[in-house]
Amino acid sequence: LNLYPCLRPLLFIFDPETAHRLAVRAVAGGWGVPKQAAPDDPALAVKLWGRDFSNPVGLAAGFDKNAETLSHIHKFGFGFVEAGSVTPQPQYGNKKPRVFRLTGQHAVINRYGFNNEGLTAFQARVQVWRESGRTDLLGINISANKDSAKGSRDYVTGLNTLAPYADYVVVNISSPNTPGLRGLQNREELTQLLADTKAARDAQMRPPPLLVKIAPDLTPEMLEDIAEVVLAAGIDGVVISNTTISRPDYLSEQFAREAGGLSGEPLRKMATQVLYDFARLTKGAVPLIGVGGIMNGIDAYKKIRAGATLLQLYTGLIYEGMGLVETIKSELVTLLKRDGFNSIMDAVGADHR
Ligand SMILES: Cc1cc2nc3c(=O)[nH]c(=O)nc-3n(C[C@H](O)[C@H](O)[C@H](O)COP(=O)(O)O)c2cc1C
Repeated sequence: LNLYPCLRPLLFIFDPETAHRLAVRAVAGGWGVPKQAAPDDPALAVKLWGRDFSNPVGLAAGFDKNAETLSHIHKFGFGFVEAGSVTPQPQYGNKKPRVFRLTGQHAVINRYGFNNEGLTAFQARVQVWRESGRTDLLGINISANKDSAKGSRDYVTGLNTLAPYADYVVVNISSPNTPGLRGLQNREELTQLLADTKAARDAQMRPPPLLVKIAPDLTPEMLEDIAEVVLAAGIDGVVISNTTISRPDYLSEQFAREAGGLSGEPLRKMATQVLYDFARLTKGAVPLIGVGGIMNGIDAYKKIRAGATLLQLYTGLIYEGMGLVETIKSELVTLLKRDGFNSIMDAVGADHR
């Protein structure tokens, strides 16, 4: 029974940031959470980085920035969850209001600016959670404080602190809301950053896979540079993509000109194209997490065929509710069968063949 169509108008009475906080609180407290996820169809299983994902549908970074929901969030049926972005020091973020719904477009603009409680609070929570014996798959997304967004230091600090708890670590250099951050995607800076973070990763007792998360707003030359640097550095995966600073012409709503990153439906095509291009440039050699504008199983399937091994959602959940996870999984099973694939793994990158 899907109650979200009734719940949504109530949630949307609140401003988006308040609604977000209420949602995090609710999940953290276990309200409205299914007792446990139903078992996944074996066709959805993904083996990657030595881990077994029972399905490829994950929660994107930014919903649970402070690792508050880990005890319950997986029960919505996610194959994995990415918490963060977390920065070394706690940070207030930008002045409110800083999140806007474009309801007619199934989109959001946010300029939170990495509001988060910092590494110490984050670590305390993931430690308690892991010590309770939980083996649900957790990605941890790390980034830099506003006053130190240049260089590798904050990323190395984050990695050294949180690597023991992570099934993978994402170096986020693509938020549009921290001045200078996206500059780390430039060839020289990226080469240094990936060398430093990889060295820190390799020095861990149990080294987690290391990923980098990129923006959709890149020139073809920049994307080629990133592909070369990622291949040369031996990075384990790339998350494609973060929110866009671009604004499609058809956005005419009240908030469409707000500064920040645009997510949801208007981002979808662009993010899937960048994913496709990156898969082509790297000849499928680097596992990709496809994210941006997934609202149903078809959107999800297109990203798989474009080259994604795993997927993530955020904005779709705001408009469709957590039931979207199960919907996407069952639609994916149908689409795989329709096209004669036995499993997700067989469909990855199918559009390149
Ligand atoms: C409100 C909000 C906050 C976000 N915060 C983060 C963040 O802290 N770190 C990050 O890497 N991405 C963040 N993102 C980006 C998402 O993880 C995702 O890449 C993007 O929203 C595209 O997916 P979607 O269209 O399914 O939302 C945020 C997105 C939204 C909407």
